[in-house]
Amino acid sequence: MNKDKTFYVTTPIYYVNDKPHIGHAYTTVAADVISRYKRMCGYDVFFLTGTDEHGQKMEQSAQKQGLKPIELADKNNERFRALWKELNISNDDFIRTTQKRHKDAVLEIIKKMKANGDIYLGEYEGWYCTPCEAYWTETQLLEGNLCPDCGRETAKLKESSYFFKMSKYQDAILDHINKNPDFIRPESRRNEIISFIKEGLRDLSISRINFSWGIPMEENEKHVIYVWVDALTNYLSALGYFNNEENKKYWPADFHIVGKDILRFHTVYWPAMLLSAGISLPKSVFAHGWWTVDGQKMSKSMGNAIDPFWLVEMFGRDAFRYFLMREVPFGLDGDFSFKALIHRINGDLANDLGNLVSRTIGMVNKYFEGVVPKYLEKDSIDENVYNAIAKSAKEADEQLNKLAYNKALLSIWESISVMNRYIDEAKPWALAKDENKKARLSSVLYTVLDGIRAISYLVYPFMPETALEIRKQIGADNNFNVESEKDLSKMGLLKSGVKLGQASSVFPRLDEKEMLEKIYGTKEEKKEEAKVEDNLIDFAAFEKVEIKAGKILEVENVKKSEKLLKLLVDVGDGGRTIVSGIAKSYAPEDLKGKTIAVVTNLKPAKLIGIESRGMILAASNGEKHFVLELPESIPAGTKIK
Ligand code: ME8
Ligand code: MG
Repeated sequence: MNKDKTFYVTTPIYYVNDKPHIGHAYTTVAADVISRYKRMCGYDVFFLTGTDEHGQKMEQSAQKQGLKPIELADKNNERFRALWKELNISNDDFIRTTQKRHKDAVLEIIKKMKANGDIYLGEYEGWYCTPCEAYWTETQLLEGNLCPDCGRETAKLKESSYFFKMSKYQDAILDHINKNPDFIRPESRRNEIISFIKEGLRDLSISRINFSWGIPMEENEKHVIYVWVDALTNYLSALGYFNNEENKKYWPADFHIVGKDILRFHTVYWPAMLLSAGISLPKSVFAHGWWTVDGQKMSKSMGNAIDPFWLVEMFGRDAFRYFLMREVPFGLDGDFSFKALIHRINGDLANDLGNLVSRTIGMVNKYFEGVVPKYLEKDSIDENVYNAIAKSAKEADEQLNKLAYNKALLSIWESISVMNRYIDEAKPWALAKDENKKARLSSVLYTVLDGIRAISYLVYPFMPETALEIRKQIGADNNFNVESEKDLSKMGLLKSGVKLGQASSVFPRLDEKEMLEKIYGTKEEKKEEAKVEDNLIDFAAFEKVEIKAGKILEVENVKKSEKLLKLLVDVGDGGRTIVSGIAKSYAPEDLKGKTIAVVTNLKPAKLIGIESRGMILAASNGEKHFVLELPESIPAGTKIK
């Protein structure tokens, strides 16, 4: 490994107020692909992902679920980690903003900004969108004071707050963007940010006093540091940047990969913070596009947020990874559909790649008893394969360095079709019929096997498992490391005389109709589950219901009614009147003296002129009621939870 070629790539740190979905998988797979590619080419790679665990949104979500913020963070953190394992993500570290190493770094960067005279105490007045954790001015809001980003309600805030003199850095940031064309990618996004900055930067409110789940300001613990200032610093804290740890060498980051939703935070706030703290800026921030599902925005309540775990189970991790990287140009929006996924699997993976491997292995088994043949006799058409591989390797490198994943794949697939055509042209089956053509047959099959070996490198970053499987099948070693990019197109490296591995189809064809039926079947079930989930109440709602043990002191029938009994029940208050519709199931004397369960905080209701203050809990099978009885030893008024 060339230790002085470092490469640092990051994903956003995801909020843990909810479960991961394919949008999160997308960014992380993209970061994984470039990490694996660079590592393979000898770079010293640091690939960081993690979770963003502070902020008002976390505090509120946790409260709704009756959890402490850290409990919710732990729970969802596990889900993110499990998904990265499932998707074969090769991150080198995983940062959580609740970790001490991170909190220390946030205080440190603020200290540096303050030392530079950039932090002051003031009063904040504005509108806050909690789901976006973003501030807006009155003029930025949509009608009805809605958030211009997500369209949800914002809240007006006026409170004491620390400010960061972001306005001071307006010109420096613009200058940096102008001098570094790669700083914001893709181009269209770059222009968008430039015009945003030109409208004028305001100072940034960087502390809150209306909630507590976050990192307190050192000089005033009532103030919690704004979650974006907190979160952005993760890119340094994970490196141990301020402790001068070994990993500091990875800074500045080569790529911050983010969704277009959070580009502004990364290309305005973050550079301003870094400039203030005297730290160099990341080399490039790349904003990818937005996935919709069947043309609609993904959302849990619509029941169309696709569970990535389930996708992996249905289609396999490599097919899913491939689809994400191939279907949509990185930087543009895309739509997820099962049809498109199945078409990619059947076309690109089963037909093109899978078929190339299986037909080649089939012929080597048939004509050479499953042993890698020798290259004995040259023909000019062999050049087609060499040239194609050289071109693919070169283009894939260029495209990957720009995160143009789909173009890299297109170019790799170009070689796959050249090799499929090469077989059709060279006609090994015809050569096999002529004893004099044995040397040529051997050379043709060697060339294809060796070409597949070269392809295995190129597909490795996208589909690591498949690449390894292919190498096993063609009798190649499992070493994916090369000295440098240039070695990726070297040919003739496959050893002859080696026995092939066990053949098996790398991507079996899917029956589209059957698959879609299966998917929509389970999707309906999922929707039902989601509906049930929507019916759930949170703990806070349940807690509002007051249930207590009651002793039945007196019972009498209600005149004019066959159904009703009038009871005097002591629920710790000496006795109250409750009217209950259980007269058909119980005679008054059956009930007297029993200890039962009573809802005590229902609003009083008048039944046939009698005021009832509470409800007796009973099960009913449609004919008869069964009052919930408690052991006699339980005192009247005991709370039931
Ligand atoms: O914004 N399509 O976290 P987050 C494509 N904690 N990508 C999507 C997507 C979709 N439909 N939905 C989500 C945060 N993403 C902050 C980040 S970084 C210092 C702090 C991906 O959980 C995409 O990468 O809301 C997007 O930027 C990110 O998830 C937002 O994740
Ligand atoms: Mg978000």
